[in-house]
Amino acid sequence: MRLSEKVAVITGAGSGLGRAMAERFAREGARLVLGDIDADAVRAVAAAVAAAGGTALAVRADVTVKADMVRLTQTAADHFGGLDIMVNNAGIDVRGALADLPEDVFDRILAVNLKGVFLGSQAAWPHLVRRGGGVILNTASLAGLVGAPLLGAYAASKGGVVQLTKVLALEGARYGIRANAVCPVFTETPMVTRWLEREPDAEAVRARLVRGIPLRRLGRPEDVVNAALYLVSDEAQFITGVAFPVDGGASAH
Ligand SMILES: NC(=O)c1ccc[n+]([C@@H]2O[C@H](COP(=O)([O-])OP(=O)(O)OC[C@H]3O[C@@H](n4cnc5c(N)ncnc54)[C@H](O)[C@@H]3O)[C@@H](O)[C@H]2O)c1
Repeated sequence: MRLSEKVAVITGAGSGLGRAMAERFAREGARLVLGDIDADAVRAVAAAVAAAGGTALAVRADVTVKADMVRLTQTAADHFGGLDIMVNNAGIDVRGALADLPEDVFDRILAVNLKGVFLGSQAAWPHLVRRGGGVILNTASLAGLVGAPLLGAYAASKGGVVQLTKVLALEGARYGIRANAVCPVFTETPMVTRWLEREPDAEAVRARLVRGIPLRRLGRPEDVVNAALYLVSDEAQFITGVAFPVDGGASAH
């Protein structure tokens, strides 16, 4: 029980990595407030957590809307007496060459992936300060550390998340707030399967992705969850401001 006594908020908890973190954090003893723009999806995850013996509330919350983020974090304070861990995980990917990427698509990616982390962190901040410290964990990406063709807006947003994480770490240190990011390579979640399903030759694309990863497989949600669990736990009490690759060695090239 590495998170017993802890209260955590996770955004984008209705699917993929957010869902996997929710299920694992609950097993480690955390009480959870789960947010997602997809109300049905996040309700289903909270129900699954509860059915497995955990404690989770579901809130429909869009990370691009400040009032939603305030409500999400306030729910943790109202129901569980405070907040220890804020996971800014919600994100979207839209593929396309920068030369042709529509302006509104660029704006939306930046709004969800980067501004969402800002709004989530800002909403969590007073609760973490009141608690005498806590943790912010942001889901960035390998694409926030290296360039990624056809993911220009996404890469820019995730690079921004890495920088935001470092500043949150520096500004939070005096309050006992740590801030870190995980940077996954392509990981088997609905985000990636949706994309591969649209490719005419998904197997060839998958094989090409795997060739770029020294450990020769795509990421699994549990790879990211294990790193996330470490970073939000007290075992990482001296770790702040890092962008932690979970990438099978891809960033070592
Ligand atoms: N899967 C990968 O290969 C991979 C790699 C690196 C980083 N990431 C990042 O991991 C995070 C989770 O992605 P995933 O793979 O689990 O994708 P996913 O599509 O399975 O899940 C993303 C969740 O975020 C929610 N969401 C989208 N927009 C939202 C908004 N405005 N407000 C609140 N919730 C919103 C979706 O409804 C969905 O439930 C994202 O930030 C993504 O960029 C994923």
